[in-house]
This record gives sequence, C-alpha cells and structure tokens, in this order.
Amino acid sequence: MEVLFFIKSSSVDITNYTIKDIPGSSGRLDVISRCILAALLNLKGFNNNIQIWVFLEKYGTFIFNPESFDEEVFPKNEILLTEYFVDLILNRAGQLRYSKNPLKRIKYINQDIFNTLKAYKKQKYSIYVLDESGQDFFKYIKEISSQEHIIFVIGSQTGEILKSIELIELNLPNLSLGTQSYLASSVIRLIRLNLKLLI
Ligand SMILES: C[S@@+](CC[C@H](N)C(=O)[O-])C[C@H]1O[C@@H](n2cnc3c(N)ncnc32)[C@H](O)[C@@H]1O
Repeated sequence: MEVLFFIKSSSVDITNYTIKDIPGSSGRLDVISRCILAALLNLKGFNNNIQIWVFLEKYGTFIFNPESFDEEVFPKNEILLTEYFVDLILNRAGQLRYSKNPLKRIKYINQDIFNTLKAYKKQKYSIYVLDESGQDFFKYIKEISSQEHIIFVIGSQTGEILKSIELIELNLPNLSLGTQSYLASSVIRLIRLNLKLLI
C-alpha cells in the first residue's frame, strides 16, 4: 500500500525567518516540519510506503519521498529540519547555504494541490479528506485497507483548505477521526497507527 499525505499552507512566509522564533517568523513552518517527521519517520527510520507532499502557496510544492533522502543524515528534529527546509526553499535554484543539506535531492514541482488531486483522481488513486466534521473514518477502514494507492488531504493549523471551493468541487469523501480537533501531525500519526495493521 502506498500512502501520500497532502498538506497545503498559505501562511508559510520565510521572508523574516529566524531560527530563534520559528513559529513567529515563518508563518508556522514548524507545523509543516512536525507533519513531515510524523509522516516519514518510525522507530526504525523511514517508512518507504509513505510520502508527504507540502504545498506552500508562496513557494511551490515539495515532495518528501524517502527515496530522495539518506536516512542516516535526514534531520530527525523539527528545528534542524526547518533550518534545512528554509535553506532549500530560499536557495533551491542557487547556492545552498548548507552544502551538505540532506534535503537537496528533494523533488520540487510547480503545481498546486487542486490540479495535483485532479491528476491523481484520474489515475484512480483513492483520495480522502481528513475533517473533524466528516464521516466516521473507522466505518471506512475496511474499504481503505483494500486500496493500493491512497492520498489523505490534511489542513494546516487553520484548516482553511477544507472550506475551499476548489476542494469541495472535487467531491471527495471527508473522514473524521472523532469530534476532537487534533494537530495535523497527530492526525498523521493516528492514520498511520490505524493503518499499521495494513502497511
Ligand atoms: C489543527 S487542525 C485544524 C483545525 C482548524 N480549526 C479546522 O477547523 O480545521 C489540522 C487538520 O487536521 C485534521 N483534523 C484535525 N482533527 C481531526 C479529526 N478529528 N478528524 C479528522 N481530521 C482532523 C484536519 O484536516 C484539520 O484541518
């Protein structure tokens, strides 16, 4: 089973980024970094069945696929990951500040989340939107377990994408893990936990 997590942020802005105050100086890039770690890492290292695609409205789309990284040197804490990610976003087309930046082989595409979802819908990927007010995830777990290729769309800290016309028009199933509002990174861990039986 291949699982892709899609997360979009329109708030990330690293114009005045400083490592001393990541949440306050990056438009909450820290939320995204926690989601990347929650998706890719498990106790033994990478989970090669899982990718996370980060759609940054101001900077483009970054595909975190374990195949692009060396597990030994991949940053395992959010501060280091954020520092390298900022370097990559700012200097991707030029000279990286960290010559050995472990993210340098990351795949970058200049395509927004809605067109990407449309493309994967055509390729018969099973796509689910994670939303507190959605239908019960656990009623769908049997259906999900029989799928080969799955995409889960998750909102960032504001969850604004869930209310966007473009997403609603795609008419995708919305699934809820319960009425509690979880952090996006916790949602990723909960999905992995519930699918562990399947991966
Ligand atoms: C911090 S929450 C965003 C909270 C925001 N107030 C909202 O209304 O979406 C981040 C994302 O995690 C997912 N999420 C949070 N709790 C969830 C739940 N109980 N079931 C399914 N998805 C959830 C949603 O995709 C949400 O956009």
